[in-house]
Amino acid sequence: MSRTLFVTTALPYASGPLHIGHMMEYIQADIWVRFMRMRGHRVAFVGADDAHGAPIMIAAEKAGRTPPQFVAEMAAGRRRYLDGYHLAFDHWHSTDSIENVELSQSIYRALKANDLVTTRDVEQFFDPVKNMFLPDRYIKGECPVCHAKDQYGDSCEVCGSVYSPTELIEPYSSLTGATPVLKTSEHFFFKLSDPRCVGFLKAWTAGLSTTSGVARLQAEVRNKAAEWLLGKPDADGAFDPKGGLADWDISRDEPYFGIPIPDAPGKYFYVWLDAPVGYLASLKSYFDSGKAAADGQTQTFDEFVNDEGVEQVHFIGKDIIYFHTLFWPAMLRFSGRKTPDAINVHGFITLSGGEKMSKSRGTGLSPLRYLEIGMNPEWLRYYIAAKLNGRIEDIEFNPDDFVARVNSDLIGKYVNIASRAAGFVAKHFEGRLYDDADVARDGFASELRDESREIAHAIEAREFGKAIRLVMELADATNGFFDMAKPWLLAKSADAADRQHLHRVCTQTLECFRVLTIYLKPILPKLASEAEAFLGLAPQQWSDIDVPLPPGATVRPYRHLMARVDPKMLDALFESAGGEPAASSTASSTAAPAASSGDGTAAAESTIAAPLSIEPVGETIAIDDFAKIDLRVARIVMAEKVEGSTKLLRLTLDVGERDADGNPVTRNVFSGIQGAYAPEQLAGRMTVVVANLAPRKMKFGVSEGMVLAAGAADRETRPGLYVLEPDDGAVPGMRVR
Ligand code: MSP
Ligand code: ZN
Repeated sequence: MSRTLFVTTALPYASGPLHIGHMMEYIQADIWVRFMRMRGHRVAFVGADDAHGAPIMIAAEKAGRTPPQFVAEMAAGRRRYLDGYHLAFDHWHSTDSIENVELSQSIYRALKANDLVTTRDVEQFFDPVKNMFLPDRYIKGECPVCHAKDQYGDSCEVCGSVYSPTELIEPYSSLTGATPVLKTSEHFFFKLSDPRCVGFLKAWTAGLSTTSGVARLQAEVRNKAAEWLLGKPDADGAFDPKGGLADWDISRDEPYFGIPIPDAPGKYFYVWLDAPVGYLASLKSYFDSGKAAADGQTQTFDEFVNDEGVEQVHFIGKDIIYFHTLFWPAMLRFSGRKTPDAINVHGFITLSGGEKMSKSRGTGLSPLRYLEIGMNPEWLRYYIAAKLNGRIEDIEFNPDDFVARVNSDLIGKYVNIASRAAGFVAKHFEGRLYDDADVARDGFASELRDESREIAHAIEAREFGKAIRLVMELADATNGFFDMAKPWLLAKSADAADRQHLHRVCTQTLECFRVLTIYLKPILPKLASEAEAFLGLAPQQWSDIDVPLPPGATVRPYRHLMARVDPKMLDALFESAGGEPAASSTASSTAAPAASSGDGTAAAESTIAAPLSIEPVGETIAIDDFAKIDLRVARIVMAEKVEGSTKLLRLTLDVGERDADGNPVTRNVFSGIQGAYAPEQLAGRMTVVVANLAPRKMKFGVSEGMVLAAGAADRETRPGLYVLEPDDGAVPGMRVR
């Protein structure tokens, strides 16, 4: 029976580039989606950026952008990852979208009409230096549950508890380091403690999908949810009466980048309220844009989301289980919507050595760098798949293991089957397969086909590692079958029977290769499509497993389907640990010296301009000489007088550079323009800097660049200095050439 699915991956925060953890999640979901499609099911597979929230607002401010600008720039970079790793999303959208505003507000209105929203005064941490309520993530302290240090204000990365920041022990503002003060304001709450919610969630988290008949949650997740819903049992098995759900605070005060709460001026939805609604928003945009229809969907968005027969499946990481198993189903249920059919939770990918790679810490394995140094994305897909199972275990990226699995298993066992058999077929049989249908159908390959149910079962259950183990066993068996016939001896024999035997063995071996290719196709879509071309086949579906190679068909001359990993590539991959190659900037330690665009005399510009004397144009240079000067657009984040200098201003510049965590880094530049500009005239402006001048140590500190400014030759009579400014639209890091 053909199924219809709506599949999502968690929406990455738009505050930073995608890292290997995101790619692992997308690869997991993509393999599953491709498998479902090969089985003849229809899948709408969508993602989006999670654009809202205070952290993004703060990151945008630091980068000198408005939040929407900042988010748009981040979104523009996503394609390289999605295409680069062969991810078959149908649509990618943003939570900062009209669809999301409408859907979030409408869900909220429905909850309110259902008497599930209440307001209450909340005392909350306020940063007295920054003058704003502190977002949870900007308050740190000790976890009240497990006492781990330096945990965020909303949840603990060590024990997974979710709490309110005021429960943290010894809190501090990570924005300013200040000890936050408590201040009161009215907040909106989703009444999760309402018996209707609790009753619903107890049943929902323990239950089966009414569509697929499979448990909605993995056993580990179900247990975790039960613990949250009921509280932890004590030694006698009795539940703590304090356990259970608290109402959920869904509002934030301005300034906030988010969706306004209807009829509540100055109040916004907390980002986690509108984030999962972003799944629906992306789906709506996919339908409303006409793309879904072009992909063969016949329903409208409303029909599709309300269709009880559509299986709604969310892939997420273990850190966001709470939101997806409690808040999200309750929001949907009590706004009269369909609830998810499955929440598929995965563990984290770590680098060998075990250090966790997360949103807060960067990764050390940049997905873009991986592609840029020419590594094959399907190696990573294969490696990650080989490590994954349907449980919530962390997996480790180990470079030696990576090389071994790709070179010895994927290439040594599977890809080589094709090259070995194809060589004989080309050389001795003009590229033609044996002309008897029984050979491919009944030969050794039938043993491989017999495993299709078990492999399909493993893939559907997200036991990819198990599926790959089974496939590699079959690849081993195929190589054994081939070797046993001693084809190299048969090829030398003058006996016609030997030649015929060789032909049959090679044909059967290529049929085995075809079956193995179908098994691996969800994991290796590009390799599979090249293998299909080599065998002269149309794109293979799962049901084609039972359709053997046509007798007498011709295969194309074999070209190697996949190169081996050169272990040196892994050294290159890790040597500049992290550092997303920002599209526009050179990550440089070669910063540059002071801007002394001359020693501007401290005098303000005279109102009556002196006649301008023009300097003669300098000696002719070659274009290569010019090219050595790396000029970049920069934003002046901050300008300050330098104490003890009448000439210099200290400028803090954003030249588009980022650190390993994807956070903007700034440069310090001293510029001799104090006479021409008051600091407040410069802050926020764009300009151009020489970005590759050697850093210069000055009395007041190191200067890491030079700001360009125009000035007259005769500075006595005409002291004005004019800082260069690019046209509107230029952003920090753009090269000026
Ligand atoms: N914006 C929220 C999700 C909102 S969904 C309505 C968020 N974003 S995130 O960028 O921090 O994480 C996105 C996904 O990546 C989550 O599922 C998270 O678990 C996953 N991962 C983040 N780091 C990871 C690893 N190191 N390994 C595997 N997955 C990881 O949370
Ligand atoms: Zn904890």
